[in-house]
Amino acid sequence: MNNTDLVFQSYGRCCNRDEFFVDFYDHFMSSSDAIKNRFVNTDMPAQRHLLRHGVLQLILTSRGMSDRKLRALGESHNRSNFNINPEWYSLWLDALLKTVRLHDPEYTRELGEAWREVLTPGIDLIRGAY
Ligand code: HEM
Repeated sequence: MNNTDLVFQSYGRCCNRDEFFVDFYDHFMSSSDAIKNRFVNTDMPAQRHLLRHGVLQLILTSRGMSDRKLRALGESHNRSNFNINPEWYSLWLDALLKTVRLHDPEYTRELGEAWREVLTPGIDLIRGAY
C-alpha cells in the first residue's frame, strides 16, 4: 500500500468521530492566541464539518483528484480574504498530526511521516496563494 492509501485509511479511522475535529481545533487554537482570535466569531460545529471536507480534499488531491478545490481554499485564505499568515500552516499541520496520533489506534511514527508527506503539497498550494 502506498502512503496516500495509508493516510486515506488512517483518516477513515479518525474522522468517524466528531471528537477528532473538536480536539484538532483545541490543539490548533492553543498553539497561538492570534490563531484563537481568528475563530472567536466562527460557528465551530459548521467549521468542523467544513474541515472534515478540507482534509479529505488534501488527501484526494494527492491521490490524483483535480486541485480545483484546493485552489479555491488558497483564494479564501489569501491576504485579500481570511488573510491567513503563511507561517500558521506549520502549526496547523502539527495540530493535525497531534490529533491523528491521539485518535488513530494504528498510529506509528512512520504513519505520521506519511501524513506529512501526503498533505504537504496541498498545504503548500493553499499557502502559496497568499
Ligand atoms: C475557513 C480549510 C488552514 C483559518 C476554512 C474552510 C475550510 C478550511 C474548508 C471553510 C471554507 C472556506 O471558507 O474556504 C483549511 C485547510 C487548511 C486551513 C484544509 C490547511 C491547509 C487554516 C489556517 C488558519 C485557518 C492555518 C489560521 C488561523 C480559517 C478561518 C476560516 C477558515 C479563520 C473562516 C472561519 C469562519 O468562517 O469564521 N478553512 N484551512 N485555516 N479557515 Fe482554514
